[in-house]
Amino acid sequence: MEVVILAAGMGKRMRSALPKVLQPLAGRPLLAHVLASVRALGAGRICVVYGHGGETVRARLDAPDLVWAEQSPQLGTGHAVQQALPQLSDGEQALVLYGDVPLIGVPTLTRLSAAAGCGLQSQLAKLALLTVELDDPTGYGRILRDASGRVTRIVEEKDATPAERRVREVNTGILSAPVARLRDWLGRIGNHNAQGEYYLTDIIALAVADGVEIVTVSPATVAETLGVNSKAQLASLERVYQARIADQLLDKGVTLIDPARLDVRGELVCGRDVEIDVNCVFEGRVELGDGVSIGANCVLRDVHLGAGTRVAPFSHLDSTRTGEACAIGPYARTRPGTVLGNGVHVGNFVEIKNSKVADQSKANHLAYVGDADVGERVNIGAGTITCNYDGVNKFRTVIEDDAFIGSDTQLVAPVRVGRGATLGAGTTLTRDAPPDALTVSRSPLQSIARWRRPVKQA
Ligand code: UD1
Ligand code: CA
Repeated sequence: MEVVILAAGMGKRMRSALPKVLQPLAGRPLLAHVLASVRALGAGRICVVYGHGGETVRARLDAPDLVWAEQSPQLGTGHAVQQALPQLSDGEQALVLYGDVPLIGVPTLTRLSAAAGCGLQSQLAKLALLTVELDDPTGYGRILRDASGRVTRIVEEKDATPAERRVREVNTGILSAPVARLRDWLGRIGNHNAQGEYYLTDIIALAVADGVEIVTVSPATVAETLGVNSKAQLASLERVYQARIADQLLDKGVTLIDPARLDVRGELVCGRDVEIDVNCVFEGRVELGDGVSIGANCVLRDVHLGAGTRVAPFSHLDSTRTGEACAIGPYARTRPGTVLGNGVHVGNFVEIKNSKVADQSKANHLAYVGDADVGERVNIGAGTITCNYDGVNKFRTVIEDDAFIGSDTQLVAPVRVGRGATLGAGTTLTRDAPPDALTVSRSPLQSIARWRRPVKQA
């Protein structure tokens, strides 16, 4: 099977500089969703017909299994498929999809291809149409059938008579047909219609005339066939997509406090007894171990959390791995390269970047730990900062096991705090702190008796 994806439309109604098929649904371009389904089908060649903003689309999504055909100017869906024909081989069955119909499902496409006789000898191949019955068919091409129920043609809304417009079975645009036939039919269609376009839908009447059997298949859900022409439609498909993900997670036993307030923009893999509170966003690949709980309003991107780890509300975790039973947040921020051991605590307003923090260490309040290697059972006091950047270069800080870092300490990297060392509160550490010793830098404390505050000058 060979695939043609029509993606040349302008998408004017999106009112965006970004080409329509690059608009994100669940964090991925619309076209990427279609490509994922097509790849899951095990398609042969995949030809994307691009037009407006096409170079951007190509640059963003190009892959070795794709071929690209430019359609310029855009003279209709039939003309669009024609641009792909040089890339397709006779003897194959072509599956035509739209780049702006992102939720099309693999089981539906499998049924459509089977109905078209994919894999059979080309003489046996049929023309298969994906159609749906809509309560409000406005805007769609209508499927016309004869008295015995056989499809005779498709009429576009703008060309339809009032009686034809009452037909509720509509063309989704998705179809499968033998390539050789398609080549012949598309060579014979004209543009004498209300829109002056070359309609792909005109091949149906030609197929009927040629005695090619036409079969219709309906999708598993109507949402699969919905296209995106406006931001409102994009937003409504986003909710459909997210509701599906939420259902899948609930089926797997994940507790979602409110399935309607969850956004997964990538892949979320959960162990047993995971609980997710409201308004959390998951991006990239996120893996949550058994018994993990995520508080309200957290954003996690490319994160792996070990079993029993708890993330309190309003935390933002990016490219982070943790061991088991960590306590993170509220209001924690972990940036790329954060690796936490088991039982690590990262409290409110603590930022960690490109650092390893080993088992049972704690930074509970207001700290910046950047480019650091922190050992086990280390206590990092409130207000501690690794001064990892001199304005030009970055340097590492090493804090060995069992060190105690007093509050409001600056660790001027590169610097090392020895095993079991104690740093007094307020220390600015500019050289290594020896193990098991107290290191403290502090200006002498003075009290000046009968000190008088300045008074306002007249
Ligand atoms: C088309 C169908 C209509 C169907 C509807 C379903 C035709 C003539 N009509 O109508 O029967 O009910 O889809 O949504 O086929 N495209 C190109 N190049 C072009 C024109 C369109 O690549 O020159 C692409 C668009 O990017 C889009 C798809 O084809 O992905 C459909 O185009 P659109 O203009 O939305 O078709 P409709 O007129 O709505
Ligand atoms: Ca459309």
